[in-house]
Amino acid sequence: MDRIKGSARLMIVSDLDHTMVDHHDPENLSLLRFNALWEAKYREDCLLVFSTGRSLTLYKELRKEKPMLTPDVTIMSVGTEITYGNSMIPDDGWVEILNQKWDKKIVLEEASKYPELTLQPETEQRPHKVSFYVQKDKAQEVTKALSESFIKHGLDVKIIYSGGIDLDILPQGAGKGQALAYLLKKLRSKGKLPKNTLACGDSGNDAELFSIPEIYGVMVSNAQEELLQWHAANAKDNPNIIHATERCAGGIIEAIGHFSLGPNISPRDVTDLSDTSLEKFDPAYEVVKFYLFFERWRRAEAEKSEIYLSNLKGVCAPSGFYVHPSGFEKPLHDCVDALRQCHGDKQGKQFRVWVDQVFSTQVSSHIWIVRFKKWEISGGEQSGCLTTALLSSKDVSVAEGLTWLQVHQTWLTGATPGDQSLWRF
Ligand code: GLC
Ligand code: MG
Repeated sequence: MDRIKGSARLMIVSDLDHTMVDHHDPENLSLLRFNALWEAKYREDCLLVFSTGRSLTLYKELRKEKPMLTPDVTIMSVGTEITYGNSMIPDDGWVEILNQKWDKKIVLEEASKYPELTLQPETEQRPHKVSFYVQKDKAQEVTKALSESFIKHGLDVKIIYSGGIDLDILPQGAGKGQALAYLLKKLRSKGKLPKNTLACGDSGNDAELFSIPEIYGVMVSNAQEELLQWHAANAKDNPNIIHATERCAGGIIEAIGHFSLGPNISPRDVTDLSDTSLEKFDPAYEVVKFYLFFERWRRAEAEKSEIYLSNLKGVCAPSGFYVHPSGFEKPLHDCVDALRQCHGDKQGKQFRVWVDQVFSTQVSSHIWIVRFKKWEISGGEQSGCLTTALLSSKDVSVAEGLTWLQVHQTWLTGATPGDQSLWRF
């Protein structure tokens, strides 16, 4: 959070399952569209917050399965656990708040009296979250009876029903909404309240997000009945909350446009990537654009034309070089030539490329260092490299784009592909 000096231009707080991530789209297209937009136009001065019901264990599993970006803040286990940055440093202050008026033992004891409740797996039972499954037709009745018995025991808890199956019991002060309120308060106290905040969700545990004042909200088109019902009863007159017409991350992009929160055209939705409307050199856009071309070339979505290759050579310095993650070095122009053989080698196959955490620093009047994680998913296997690129604006116009001087890659821990020799760029 501290990487941005002032206020973030936009903070997106998004649920994951069926919101950021579409489990019904094996191609993950809306997620990839969002990723490209975020990295090209938002990453540098905006904050990305994932707010999920999943525990750390299941969150990590999802990251392995889906092409996901790395958030600045991760709120897990339905707003009961907040962590910051890549090292996921826990917010101990939040834990202390949740400890007040919470007795997990009594919660478990009381809940065990209801045969309609089935305990969720061990990984989903957290210090401040007790979770069950319960059938839709039983949910209301059980919730009512449970809350009555908790009141009798003097326990102030919150019961949330999500996805037509999950029942979570949390401390009253917990939940996705309270966690967001806490985060906003923290940012405000540092003088870093985001200029705009957009909350995104699809199910019952997201409802609270939409009751935080002064933020925008989007319920994705595929939102669950329980969330739509909550909205109809509690927020239907709030123009800052919309029900998108698009599914999942497509709905998030739609909301960015609807509320005019910034650029809302993903580079993935553009065929001609030579953006002549750019007003200044933009290293992040350059990186996103390059890897998008790389994907399209290999999927044969970009036609096999010498013009592309010569344009590409045009933006690579003749003396420029590439250091492959396994150590060998090659002139950049040779790498471009080598692309000739791999045109369409991923045609009709599952192959996607995305970049994550693209950060650039201008180191002199003409030179930028750009650091990012470059990921590929190919045949179900994800592999990734930490990449450092040196880009130059010497002797080129903004419309021509920056010149690549060097690209240097290192395998990310645990992300080395089975066959390293197949990795290019
Ligand atoms: C996630 C969690 C589960 C929780 C549900 C709804 O699926 O894994 O424990 O009940 O979200 O909040
Ligand atoms: Mg969800």
